[in-house]
Formats: sequence, C-alpha cells, structure tokens
Amino acid sequence: MSGPHCELPSRQEILDKIRDVAAIPVASIRVMRLLQNPDFETDALVQCIEYDPGLTSSVLRMANSALLGGVRNVASVREAVLRLGARRITQVVMTAAVGPHLRPAERGYDLSAEALWRHAVATALGAETLAARADMLAPPYTFTAGLLHNIGKTVLAGQVGVDAAPIVALAEGEKIPFEAAERRLLGIDHAELGGLLLEQWSLPVEIVEVVRAHHAPGALGESNVAVDLVHLADILGTMSVVGTGRNGPAFRASRETLARIPLTKPLVARVIADTRAEMEALASMFELN
Ligand SMILES: [Fe+2]
Repeated sequence: MSGPHCELPSRQEILDKIRDVAAIPVASIRVMRLLQNPDFETDALVQCIEYDPGLTSSVLRMANSALLGGVRNVASVREAVLRLGARRITQVVMTAAVGPHLRPAERGYDLSAEALWRHAVATALGAETLAARADMLAPPYTFTAGLLHNIGKTVLAGQVGVDAAPIVALAEGEKIPFEAAERRLLGIDHAELGGLLLEQWSLPVEIVEVVRAHHAPGALGESNVAVDLVHLADILGTMSVVGTGRNGPAFRASRETLARIPLTKPLVARVIADTRAEMEALASMFELN
C-alpha cells in the first residue's frame, strides 16, 4: 500500500500486537463474573474485594469520602458495601480495576486521552441512568461494559500506536461513521478489536458482546438490554458536554434500539442531567478533575 496511509498497520499486525496486552487484575474479573448474576450475594462480593489489597483500599477510600457523606470511619469492606450499596461498590471496583487500562496513550486517538476517559465514564454512568429513567432493569454488568466499550480505541492508540489522523480525515471527508473509516483503513474497527481483547482476558461473554456490538445493536438479530443501553449512552455521552465526539451527523442511533427505547427529548435531558450530576459526585474517584 502506498500513499499517505502507508504507515497504518494491517489487521494481522494489530491482532498480533494485542496478544501482548497485559490483562486486568484477576480479582476484578471475579467481580465481573459475580455480577453476571443479578441476585449475587453481598458476602461473595465482599470476599472478592478483600482478596485484592488494591481494590480494598479503593473501596475504603471511597466509603470514607466526605463527598459521599461519610460521617465516621469505615474500616471494613463489609461496612463499605452496606454504606454505599452494591451498585456504588461495583462502580468503585470496576473503575479502580480497568481505569489504568483505559488511559495509557498520552496523545489519545480520535479524542484526547482525557476525553476518551471522560467519555468512558459518562457512558458507564449514562447506561445505568438511562435504564433508571426509562424504567428498565440494567443487568449488573452494564456499568463495566459501558466503561470498557471503547477499550479497542485505547489499545489502537497505545499498544498498537495507530495515528488516528487519517481515520478522522476519512470519516469527516466522506461523512461516514468513525468505525467504518477504521474498518476501511485498518481492516478492523475498535469494537471488534475490543471484543477480541476482552475475550482473550476471559471476561464474561455478556460484556464481550456489549463491547463488540456497541455500534451495531441491530446486527445482533435479537434484543440485548445491555447493548441497547450502552449504545444509547455512548451517543448521549457524545451529545452532552462530558464527551464530545468526532462522529458528527454520521453517528446515529440504531433503529432497532430506538424502537425498544424511544429517546424522547425530556428523557434525553434527564439522562444527561443525571449523568453530569453522577460524574460530579464521583469526580474524585474517577480522577476527572
Ligand atoms: Fe465506539
């Protein structure tokens, strides 16, 4: 291949490189497996966290944070789970575990490294917020799947060292979605690559599915609540100030998903407001400042 894009890696070169990407901590994978079951036991969650000193200290720091109304010292994981609730705890655990893997590339990809991270958090929180506002039950792994949905971008920018400029230029020039431009120039897009990486890490198949399908829920053939939620939260995150995207008008919601979750204007406004409030409440934990 010649021309301005000759320095871009091939699909095979990209696949070879992801084999060397270090996996996330075992304890966090255990927590993810636990969260596949909506009726998981608090005891099991506490045990998983206590197994890992890093996760334990993250959870205790969060439980004692003044922002969350801490009035006295929380000294045990069990107390922290009771104080914050299982939902908050899993947010803390997953953010502590996967956060470092989501922001390695200083120069970023289609967005800056910081904007990619903010967008990941906005999508994770937005997916749960959307479910609550739309009276739906988000599967417990939805937050994690939202956090990881663009991990393929992090890896392409970081470990693979792809310069996104030609991809951005193609997407903008031809007014096609960013992921379509990736497929054209790299032979793979960040959604497929992210799915392959998480599969390599033996993450639960439900999370792999969300990451792989987050731009094309309609291609799944059947409805998948977590895919729908993350797909829409990704778009809402892009619409709100918390994470602007370069996808422009080509970045549209799937017709199949919109038939299942109609995005009315009031719903969109509420979800964006809720997401911003949650991000503010959790800013210190997510290092968003
Ligand atoms: Fe994406």
